Amino acid sequence: MVGYAFMGAAHSQAWRTVNRVYDLPARARMVLVAGRDPGKVAEAADRLGWEEHTTDWRELVARPDIDVVDICTPGDSHAEIALAALAAGKHVLCEKPLANTVAEAREMAAAAAVARAGGARSMCGFNYRRVPAVTLMRQLVADGRLGEIRHVRASYLQDWIVDPQFPLVWRLRKDLAGSGALGDIGAHIIDLTQYVTGQRITGVSAVTETFVKERPLPAESSGLAAQADGAAAATGPVTVDDAAVFVARLDGGSLATYEATRFATGRKNALRVEINGSLGSVAFDLERLNELEFYDATRPTAEQGFSRILVTEGEHPYLSAWWPPGHIIGYEHSFTHQMRDFIEAVATGVDPTPSFAEALQVQLVLDAVVRSAERGSSWTDVEPTLATVAA
Ligand SMILES: NC(=O)c1ccc[n+]([C@@H]2O[C@H](COP(=O)([O-])OP(=O)(O)OC[C@H]3O[C@@H](n4cnc5c(N)ncnc54)[C@H](O)[C@@H]3O)[C@@H](O)[C@H]2O)c1
Repeated sequence: MVGYAFMGAAHSQAWRTVNRVYDLPARARMVLVAGRDPGKVAEAADRLGWEEHTTDWRELVARPDIDVVDICTPGDSHAEIALAALAAGKHVLCEKPLANTVAEAREMAAAAAVARAGGARSMCGFNYRRVPAVTLMRQLVADGRLGEIRHVRASYLQDWIVDPQFPLVWRLRKDLAGSGALGDIGAHIIDLTQYVTGQRITGVSAVTETFVKERPLPAESSGLAAQADGAAAATGPVTVDDAAVFVARLDGGSLATYEATRFATGRKNALRVEINGSLGSVAFDLERLNELEFYDATRPTAEQGFSRILVTEGEHPYLSAWWPPGHIIGYEHSFTHQMRDFIEAVATGVDPTPSFAEALQVQLVLDAVVRSAERGSSWTDVEPTLATVAA
C-alpha cells in the first residue's frame, strides 16, 4: 500500500478484516507500506498492521512477493504509481478519482487493458457502491421495481473548509488534487448514480465557485483535520473549486441534478441520492447508511408511502457475513466489501469493478463539468468512451 493516512487507515482496516469475515479463495497478507517520511511510515506500519515499511513506493513494484499494489495517495501520484505497478504485472487498486486529468486517466485505462491481457487486474476505489443500501438500490432498479427512471437527484455535502482560516491542504491545490469538491466528492455521486441507474451522463451544464480564494499555509500538507501554521503569516491561493453544481442528461432519458460542496454548513458527510421512476422511488443518505427509503407505486393507493428498509438482513448485499438483523454496520464496512470483491475477482480471474475504464468515464464527466463552468455554463457533451457500467 502507498500512503498511510485517511484512506491508508481505511484500507488497512479492510485488508486486516476481510478474510476474518468472508470466506474467500485467497488470503490478504499485508506485506509492505510505503510513505515519504521514515519515522511516520514506520509508526504507521506498526499501528495499521503492515509487516514492513519503506520510503520508496518503487520497492513495492519491484518486489516479486507482492501481488497487489493499493494506491492511497493524492491524485498527483496515482498515474505514475499505477502505470509502474501494472507494467510490473501487479494487480492494482487505486483510490478515486482515478487521476488528476483525462490524459492521465486515459493512459491508466489503456495500461490496465494491456496488463489485463497478462492477467493483472485493476479497480478504482469508488467504495460507496459497496454500501449495502446502495447495492440494494441498484438491484431494485435492475429488477425494474422503479420502472422507467426519470429523475436522479444527487448531492454530496460537507462543511470542513467553511472557516476561511482552515489551511491550504493538498485538497485545495489543483497541482495535487486535480480539482476541488468536484473531483473529491462529486466524483463519488457521479459514479454512484451511474452505477445505480445503469445509465451514463451524456452532457452537463455547470457552475463552480471558489468562495475563499486565499488561505493560510498548513503546518504540513495533511488531511481533513489539518492545522494552520500559526508561526507563519504566509497564505496561498486556493486553485480548485469549493463547490460545483450541475444539471445533466443520462443516456437512458433521465434528467439529473448534482451538487458537491464543502461549504454546506452543518453537513458533515451527507451523500444523498434520490431516484424517481415510473413505478417507484428510492432515497439514500450516507449519514443513515443502514437505511433505504423505497416508494412502491404499484401498491394499493391506500397503502402507498415511503417505507424505510433497514438494510441489515442476511439476504441483503454483503450482510450475510456480518451481524444478526438490526445490528447495524458503518462507513468502514464499505471498504471491507471493496476488498472482498477485489480479492474474489483477482483470485478467480475476473475483472473487478469499477474498472479503470469506468473510472476514466467518470473523469470525462468531471472534465465536461469544468469546461462547461469555464464557458458560462454552456451545454457540454461528455466525450463517449467504450467503457460500460458493469452489470
Ligand atoms: N473512497 C473514499 O471515500 C475516499 C475518501 C477520502 C479520500 N479518498 C482518496 O484517497 C486518496 C488519498 O486521500 P486521503 O484522504 O487518504 O489523503 P491523506 O492526506 O489523508 O493521505 C495521503 C497519504 O499519501 C501520502 N503521500 C502523498 N504523496 C505521496 C507520494 N508522492 N508518495 C508516497 N506517499 C505519498 C501522504 O504522506 C499520506 O500518507 C485520494 O485520491 C482521495 O481522493 C477516497
